[in-house]
Amino acid sequence: MDKLTLSEKLETKTLGKPLMFIQEIDSTNEEIKQLAQKGYPNGTTVVAETQSAGKGRLGRLWNSPTGTGLWFSFLLRPQISPNQIAGITLAVGLGVCKAIRNYTNINALIKWPNDIIIGNKKLCGILTEMTTKSNEIENVIVGVGINVNTLKFPDEINHKATSLFLETGKQVNRSDLFKNILLEIENYVEYYLDNPQSNIIEDYKKLCATLGKNVTVTRGNKILIGTAISISNDGDLIIKNQTGDKIYINSGEVTVQGIY
Ligand code: BTN
Repeated sequence: MDKLTLSEKLETKTLGKPLMFIQEIDSTNEEIKQLAQKGYPNGTTVVAETQSAGKGRLGRLWNSPTGTGLWFSFLLRPQISPNQIAGITLAVGLGVCKAIRNYTNINALIKWPNDIIIGNKKLCGILTEMTTKSNEIENVIVGVGINVNTLKFPDEINHKATSLFLETGKQVNRSDLFKNILLEIENYVEYYLDNPQSNIIEDYKKLCATLGKNVTVTRGNKILIGTAISISNDGDLIIKNQTGDKIYINSGEVTVQGIY
């Protein structure tokens, strides 16, 4: 990968403009945060060949080896309130999932809120962070990590991680996939921002593998067991617990087990 192959024939309007390609970095999310402070515009994107301290959700590390994955982050400066952030997160997950499905013909689905999975293994993770100023969103930083041509994972994650190569048996062109993904993300995010009441949730539900599953939700040391029955218009996962009550789960600090 290089900057030219990643950016030539990029069809987006704002995402990936400007685009920076860095051989090695700690975390592309951290880099975007710094660029945001320097005043870089909405759409600024950083792609790295490898990350030395890739960040996952809930303070975890994200394995980001050289040459096999797509590790990138972009900056959004939307005019929305902090409670609309969940919609952006879902829109990004939906865009990534659709692009992977179209590009590879594989049955990728979404594990709520926005892991992309194949079967019961994780293909892609998305980390959304934001900064606020007097209760308004200043910057949204979205980081996407996709296992593309990975042949083998470290033992600790081997049972729950997969790559496009492992699923299709074919090497995938990372730059072409990247451009398709960026375009789909832009389309869904733009659609959501233009019509926050719109039903990207309906599209999302069609691809959400969590629905119908028995799940265990962990928040801190609290555990909730139930069946995932729907997604609310605000992007919450709705669970029916063992006594039949409906509980709304906000994606913030939870892990949902039921798929892996
Ligand atoms: C998750 O835990 O599922 C989220 C993983 C997000 C990983 C990506 S890789 C590019 C970007 N930079 C980071 O440090 N993390 C995200």
